[in-house]
Amino acid sequence: MMKIKKPRGTRDFPPEEMWERDYVENIIEDVFQNYGYRKVLIPTFEHAELFTLKSGEEIERHMYVFKDKSGRDICLRPEATASICRMFAEELRGMKKPIKIYYCCPMFRYERPQRGRYREFWQTGIELIGPENSESDAEVIEIAVRCLEKLGLRYEVEIGHLGILRDLMCKLRIEEDMQDEIISLVDKGDLDGLKKVVKEPVIYKLIGLKGDRNVLEEADSLLKEFDVSRSLEELREILHWLDLVGVNYRINLGIARGLEYYTGMVFEIRVKNLGAQNQICGGGRYDSLIELFSGISVPAVGFSFGFDRVMESIHAQGAGVIPERRMDVVIAPTSADVKEEAVRIASEIRGKYDADLDLMGRRLGKLLEYASEIKARFVIIVGQRDLDEGKVTVRDMDTGEQEKIDVKEIGDFLDERLA
Ligand code: HAM
Repeated sequence: MMKIKKPRGTRDFPPEEMWERDYVENIIEDVFQNYGYRKVLIPTFEHAELFTLKSGEEIERHMYVFKDKSGRDICLRPEATASICRMFAEELRGMKKPIKIYYCCPMFRYERPQRGRYREFWQTGIELIGPENSESDAEVIEIAVRCLEKLGLRYEVEIGHLGILRDLMCKLRIEEDMQDEIISLVDKGDLDGLKKVVKEPVIYKLIGLKGDRNVLEEADSLLKEFDVSRSLEELREILHWLDLVGVNYRINLGIARGLEYYTGMVFEIRVKNLGAQNQICGGGRYDSLIELFSGISVPAVGFSFGFDRVMESIHAQGAGVIPERRMDVVIAPTSADVKEEAVRIASEIRGKYDADLDLMGRRLGKLLEYASEIKARFVIIVGQRDLDEGKVTVRDMDTGEQEKIDVKEIGDFLDERLA
């Protein structure tokens, strides 16, 4: 026997867990569709360059890169946004804008696995390509919030704007490469590192601004002399739209995000009870990434949920949205002679309900144990004596009651109880 285990940082998802994941994914996808988004799928692997160009050092460090048999540098996708921009350049240019797309697929990052952090993890997210205005930024945040509300989760949204920090750094004549480094250090919360590369107190004051709407007044007076009011005004407008639709948030001008392509509004959503990996959603505006791959300037904004963390927070918060998976019917032929009739009954039921026909030739007692394990609502016992009278026995697995019904009436019986 060769004992082979799954690679570190990957997981198996048994049927019960997959039922829950699919259920939650459907809720999220329904919200996306409700706002007009349509699903896409991107390749599992891409040319590594797609991500090294502009996703940033943090992603690059964690990429799964390998050479294929022709010596190309290939990478398992660490995120979807760069792929979607590439897809725009190759496939979507001709589409009418706005282009609203969503995805749900696994990503791969070679990180140190821990609770809530995996090497293979799922993201479900949206990208809104085309519009440049503050309503779009607000709508994207609103969509994330609506998903969490539907899932019954408690969360906190933090909104910032990288344009403010970038504008300020431009005014301070800090080169773009250095700006990227500073933003990456801010994202990691690496103050010591930051102190080595930047001295200006105004930067430290800016990234320390957090709280309610008053923060914007503080930012106004802090940045007065630097003339960066455009980005601040944009953030104000975004918040205005969010107020209008009743989305609660906290402002945090220290949000930097781990990815380099953001140009404007950035946001993150955290939940309680998840420990260190409590950020379940991240996103923002990236107005120059599409141009990098397509040559045409097209603004865009989007976000991704860390889907595994969403699932974990549903469990941690005890949000009761996921119903128990139930099987409608188990069909139990009591002997070999009635198998054909049992198959016939099963195939009729399967036109409308889920039915599991015993394939193991089990005795009734064992089959009832199985039916109870898969949480069947009814067991239809098909026996020769009943069949001679044109009947079967139906057992209600919740009450334990049994009754005989006409074979012809099985459909009506199930309609009454399961529809
Ligand atoms: P990100 O912040 O790198 O953004 O990832 C989004 C979310 O994925 C995180 O908030 C987190 O919940 C989850 N996540 C990240 N790494 C892991 C991991 N190793 N294990 C489990 N979950 C993880 C992006 O990827 C951007 N593409 C989001 C975006 C879309 N921005 C604009 N559009």
